[in-house]
Amino acid sequence: MFVILLLVFGTLQIFGDAHKIKSPWHYECSAGLCEKAAISSNVSTPLSLEVCQMFCGEAGAIWPKPTGHLSLGNFVVHLDPEAIKISGLNSTSKVSTLLSRSVNLLKSNVQRLGGGVANNKNGKALWVHFSGSLVKDLSMPLDISENYTLEVRQLDDGTVNATIVAESYFGARHGLETLSQLIVFDDLRSQVQIARDVNIVDGPVYPYRGITLDTSRNFIDKAAILRTIRGMAMSKLNTFHWHITDSHSFPYESKSLPNMSHYGSYTPQKVYTSKDVKEIVDYGLLHGVRVVPELDAPAHVGEGWQWIDNALLCFKAQPWMNYCVEPPCGQLNVSNEKVYEILETIYKDLIHDFKPALFHMGGDEVSTKCWNSVESFKQWMATKGWNTTGDSGFIKAWEYFQTKAYDALTRANNGKTLPSILWTSGLTDENNIDYLDPNKYIIQIWTESSDKSIARLIKKKFKVIFSNYDAVYLDCGFGAWVTSGNNWCSPYKGWQLLYDNSPLNIIIKQGFSTADKQYILGGSAALWTEQADTSSLDGRLWPRAAAYAERLWAEPSSSWIHAEQRMLRHRQRLVQKGIQADQLEPEWCSQNQGACPL
Ligand SMILES: *[C@@H]1O[C@H](CO)[C@@H](O)[C@H](O)[C@H]1NC(C)=O
Ligand SMILES: *[C@@H]1O[C@H](CO)[C@@H](O)[C@H](O)[C@H]1NC(C)=O
Ligand SMILES: *[C@@H]1O[C@H](CO)[C@@H](O)[C@H](O)[C@H]1NC(C)=O
Ligand SMILES: *[C@@H]1O[C@H](CO)[C@@H](O)[C@H](O)[C@H]1NC(C)=O
Ligand SMILES: *[C@@H]1O[C@H](CO)[C@@H](O)[C@H](O)[C@H]1NC(C)=O
Ligand SMILES: *[C@@H]1O[C@H](CO)[C@@H](O)[C@H](O)[C@H]1NC(C)=O
Ligand SMILES: *[C@@H]1O[C@H](CO)[C@@H](O)[C@H](O)[C@H]1NC(C)=O
Repeated sequence: MFVILLLVFGTLQIFGDAHKIKSPWHYECSAGLCEKAAISSNVSTPLSLEVCQMFCGEAGAIWPKPTGHLSLGNFVVHLDPEAIKISGLNSTSKVSTLLSRSVNLLKSNVQRLGGGVANNKNGKALWVHFSGSLVKDLSMPLDISENYTLEVRQLDDGTVNATIVAESYFGARHGLETLSQLIVFDDLRSQVQIARDVNIVDGPVYPYRGITLDTSRNFIDKAAILRTIRGMAMSKLNTFHWHITDSHSFPYESKSLPNMSHYGSYTPQKVYTSKDVKEIVDYGLLHGVRVVPELDAPAHVGEGWQWIDNALLCFKAQPWMNYCVEPPCGQLNVSNEKVYEILETIYKDLIHDFKPALFHMGGDEVSTKCWNSVESFKQWMATKGWNTTGDSGFIKAWEYFQTKAYDALTRANNGKTLPSILWTSGLTDENNIDYLDPNKYIIQIWTESSDKSIARLIKKKFKVIFSNYDAVYLDCGFGAWVTSGNNWCSPYKGWQLLYDNSPLNIIIKQGFSTADKQYILGGSAALWTEQADTSSLDGRLWPRAAAYAERLWAEPSSSWIHAEQRMLRHRQRLVQKGIQADQLEPEWCSQNQGACPL
């Protein structure tokens, strides 16, 4: 929508302002796009690009776009970043502490806008006021309210009051995130400006909006994980799904079983200690991000398990393609009781360190070829009366494992069941799906969006999370590593593909209706790290994960083209906050909006 801008800087600085501006250019909003234009004598309030964009287009510069009401007014106020203060918190509760820490973060980010050269003289103060029930629960269950309303007004004394109303810390924090996107550096005047007459009602469409990150194929250091959480918070993603272990390495330092990482980490330094995990989980909480650990089993195991006798089958078997999908192979000897003791102990440590609201049990890519290659394993199967010809008996062995592992997880959680996630796999196939109980398991879909298991899962009333590789796998489109040519899921998934990956449309295409949206928990953009590590992490994740973030927050009916300029702006914000997000287009396309897309 076309927004007319009338700018009042402070109170009396509006006239005579233009002649001080050195740039020959400013920006004018027209048909939802900011156009570069010459500053001529008839322009009384030249606009910087960031100020123009804040008010221009259907959602200005806000990412993800609000789902309820949005009005931004026509005015900005010159803000003094040193004078940002909190009001409305009257207790020393954990929620209040988190909110004041969040406001301090906002303040230091605003202070850094423009590289610290902003002129704050005569800038106005900002009060950030919180109200609403702000429940004490900080465990972040799936049904926690993340909604908020944000109102910004200039008071009679010139100060600005931003009021955020929310039912939980998480909603209030989202409100602050939106507020931060309404504060920009005006490079024509070297001032920080805040939008003045704002009314926003907002809340996510889906409760699970994640990034799935593998830290086993290659190690990702703690600083990079914290930075990832920061980028997630900026994009209102709320779930860091941590695929912490796999066959390649076991970097999680289990307090009770230090041998796991002792034997399984790449180096003694490439570990996540209990203290590291606590720091990451705390940082997640502050940023409104739940951390969900995954201990993948019974396949995707290997390094770290060697010290336990008779626990690991097919480990490093060659030629690997006869036993698994990727080297090194490794699968648990599920006939061994010791395996369940070990799992229970690791689960207990993970639960202690993560205090997770949800747990991921993995469960993908079990190779019947591996178990089938071990004579003594087949003898055990025979004692159970399971057929060792064809797949059915091996599926029984897998199901046997899953039941016992689930019981071990429940015991590790003091007898309380934990909502558990499993990947789509042989167990979610047509013949086997009845093994799984939709009241126990959430299914994360990694197969293609056209996979018929999706329809099957929803018919059976499973809650699902969309990580379909044909749109949201961030590791696709690079060179191969087990051979030459391109890697398995090439081509590269551009941000547009992630943006347009609508879970709702996927299920509608498979014959369901909008009412079945209740089965969609959300989605998670996944980065498998065979070919990425700390040094390439940011560019792989960003800004593409943010594109999926808007899809999951708002499930917009429009496609990426309507989000293009906001995406470019949001990418720039990520970079300003120290995240090395990939560039998507020449900067020229941000200054000449609408001139690039076909
Ligand atoms: C300002 O002047 C330029 C020419 O100098 C003209 O093209 C433009 O339409 C004018 N803008 C307005 C808003 O009057
Ligand atoms: C502060 O206290 C007042 C009155 O006791 C209450 O109405 C208000 O909700 C409280 N604010 C917060 C943020 O807890
Ligand atoms: C800001 O606005 C809220 C809601 O109207 C009000 O309760 C609060 O007192 C205001 N804060 C200041 C500093 O005026
Ligand atoms: C919370 O947000 C969701 C999504 O926008 C919406 O369906 C729901 O009605 C909102 N609740 C409130 C209380 O605004
Ligand atoms: C670690 O593994 C070694 C065998 O390599 C074993 O002797 C030792 O008892 C194990 N430590 C613990 C704490 O289980
Ligand atoms: C698997 O575990 C069983 C039970 O402990 C054991 O007897 C068997 O030798 C193990 N198989 C292998 C190949 O390690
Ligand atoms: C085992 O499975 C194979 C292949 O599906 C089948 O031909 C065979 O009859 C089965 N054996 C028994 C004892 O059920």
